[in-house]
Amino acid sequence: MKAVVCREFEPRANLRLEEVTPPTVGPDQVLIRVEACGLNFFDGLMVEGKYQTKPDLPFTPGSEVAGVVSQVGSNVSTIRPGMRVLAFNGTGGYAEEAVSLADRVCPIPDSMSFVEAAGFLITYATSHHALKDRASLRAGETLLVLGAAGGVGLTAIEIGKQLGANVIAAASTDEKLDLCRAHGADETINYARMDLRQRLKDLTGGRGVDVTYDPVGASMTEAAVRSLAPNGRLLVIGFAAGEIPKIPLNLLLLKQSSLIGVFWGAFARAAPKHHAANMAELFTWFEQGRLNPHISGEFPLERFSEALDVVMERAAKGKVVLTMGASASNASKTGLMT
Ligand SMILES: NC(=O)c1ccc[n+]([C@@H]2O[C@H](COP(=O)([O-])OP(=O)(O)OC[C@H]3O[C@@H](n4cnc5c(N)ncnc54)[C@H](OP(=O)(O)O)[C@@H]3O)[C@@H](O)[C@H]2O)c1
Repeated sequence: MKAVVCREFEPRANLRLEEVTPPTVGPDQVLIRVEACGLNFFDGLMVEGKYQTKPDLPFTPGSEVAGVVSQVGSNVSTIRPGMRVLAFNGTGGYAEEAVSLADRVCPIPDSMSFVEAAGFLITYATSHHALKDRASLRAGETLLVLGAAGGVGLTAIEIGKQLGANVIAAASTDEKLDLCRAHGADETINYARMDLRQRLKDLTGGRGVDVTYDPVGASMTEAAVRSLAPNGRLLVIGFAAGEIPKIPLNLLLLKQSSLIGVFWGAFARAAPKHHAANMAELFTWFEQGRLNPHISGEFPLERFSEALDVVMERAAKGKVVLTMGASASNASKTGLMT
């Protein structure tokens, strides 16, 4: 089978698509014929050895896939061959076949395409866990989403609206902000040309923001902390801007505000039943048409390098996915779309 192989932690331009032996299935695992694989910002960090976890070399990047189960291990009873599933497989997704632990695999609704499913898990599950479990976002509160047109950002807008919040989306271009409005944002801020703090003051009548969802980091974080309302919470999601900010703690004391760390992968592993209940709620919302996954790029596996560049160079909106098998041949629309 074909798979992208990372043999050394080095620039992502050195990754190659190779012919490799298909993976074998352990007793607690399932084998999936991959139809689509979601790309994540951390894929690019991982292959260069810059991510918080470093897989053993060689490895195939790609942590979330959608496809059809072709084989199950001897201990697996909940997942059956032929099921349409998505999986949080960790690594191995940029390939025609991938193995995953069975407890990280879940069947997908009939109405969900493989392309939608491949980009669904990490983004929606992270935002759901962050906003509901970690921040306890309440109806009527104000939610600020930074990097709001990115993979996790758009899902935070949609879930914020499901929870009844007033959502302010912040991003670097007007085009990205148009997309945020289409996904439910009530107000927008272009932080490339507006002062974030002043605009937040204006939009909240000087009170500040109840919850901020921050996947960006760098200087944006301190400005957002300074813009929190009393008892406000800032969710530490990630550092897409490349710099981990250092925040003066007196800012939290003065506003009685909180910084809240979010690590969805660790949560899903430690609390599988809670995670399964969260996914059930997300699938229900999807089937009711209340979530609208946005895929801005669909690339066949052979064009993985181009796809990863889009994600790493700030050009993606929503999700970018690789397609294989029948999903790749159903491709009047490959490459970067909207
Ligand atoms: N904590 C968790 O459990 C968890 C789960 C999933 C993802 N994450 C993390 O969340 C972060 C965002 O992930 P994502 O999938 O949403 O990524 P993404 O689709 O690339 O979006 C990130 C957004 O950050 C903004 N950004 C600002 N400076 C940037 C820069 N120098 N380079 C790239 N983007 C920049 C961009 O929006 P503008 O152009 O509008 O500024 C971009 O849309 C990553 O660090 C990821 O590792 C964390």
